[in-house]
Amino acid sequence: MEKLAASIKEIFEKKFQKNPLMIASPGRINLIGEHTDYNEGFVLPGATDLVIVFAVSARDDRQCRFYSVDFDREYVTDLDHLVRSDQRWPDYLQGVLYAFLKEGYRINGIDLAFGGNIPIGGGMSSSAAVEGGLAFALNHLFDLKLDLLTLARLARRAENEFVGVRCGIMDMYANLHGQPGRVMKVDCRHLIHEYFPFVRPDLRVIVSDTGVRRELAFSEYNVRRQQCEEGVSLLRKYYPEIKSLRDVTLEMLEEHRKEFHPVIWKRCAYVVRENHRVELACQDLLRQDFVCFGERMKESHAGLRDEYEVSSPELNLLVELALSLPGVYGSRMMGAGFGGCTISLVEAQVVEGFIRLVSAGYERRTGRQPAIHVVRVEAGTRIIEV
Ligand code: GLA
Repeated sequence: MEKLAASIKEIFEKKFQKNPLMIASPGRINLIGEHTDYNEGFVLPGATDLVIVFAVSARDDRQCRFYSVDFDREYVTDLDHLVRSDQRWPDYLQGVLYAFLKEGYRINGIDLAFGGNIPIGGGMSSSAAVEGGLAFALNHLFDLKLDLLTLARLARRAENEFVGVRCGIMDMYANLHGQPGRVMKVDCRHLIHEYFPFVRPDLRVIVSDTGVRRELAFSEYNVRRQQCEEGVSLLRKYYPEIKSLRDVTLEMLEEHRKEFHPVIWKRCAYVVRENHRVELACQDLLRQDFVCFGERMKESHAGLRDEYEVSSPELNLLVELALSLPGVYGSRMMGAGFGGCTISLVEAQVVEGFIRLVSAGYERRTGRQPAIHVVRVEAGTRIIEV
């Protein structure tokens, strides 16, 4: 990270002839609790050591100049003309400026250079890292004194309203609230969290990237949201107090099963079970019982594959390959699905074999090399000295 940060700073200084504020903004993992955030349920994410680094400074006019080091592209706009671009990457930045302006915060233009090592579109939320990182920077540059939750909400608003993806809050929440060696159980209804220690010298988290990007993810993601809403409105006729699938039990679903379209029923049952799995997984963490924890990851994957139907052949293959090896506690697809990556929990001593065998098996069956990252759970978005 030091090298990356030094090079981003140097690029900024050359381009803008000023001294920047430096910020590191991490990608996230999610141990368990998938597609539960927008159902007001529970998730168990953490921030990673893969980051996007920002060099940024305030201007005294309304102009904004962005430079993406990874794409080697520049984009110039101003606060009164924020419109979606056809390049897409500037939209995550513009979206954050838009959200701050919409909520009436007083900001000026900015000069910014950024780049990082989070796989883009790979399921570790590089987009939330861009949004969370800029929200954090604006708060500091313009002395707005906003708390982390407000910043997470602003970052989500950027994604929902400007970029146009109806995502939940998990990614931004984890990006901003991460802590080294701890994951957080987020209650996505009350927007509060509880940290759980997640450091063991003999354990590693491995993120394996299918290399397949999520063409279907945006449209299917919204379809899943609607299906969950449909289930809620059906049950609300009988249980008017229900606000989301968070309030639904398996007994309620069983009781009214016949009135459901079978697909909607499966979707709802998955979410209800997954919320329960997060609760149980947190107890496993407290007992340091990674065998049980791993079983829940496997169940989560099976649910995402068979009930929620957001997995893909490549994701299933990576999970299968991982689980065929000794020393692998659990493995599952992570994030929205349809591509992106898997997360596996493995014994430190088998990491090398894992990388070799999973890569070889995946390449043999798909002709593609998966990118495999051993990640650490690290701090959330923060200012760094470079
Ligand atoms: C994406 C979204 C999140 C969450 C996950 C699925 O990462 O951005 O809000 O819904 O998918 O758990």
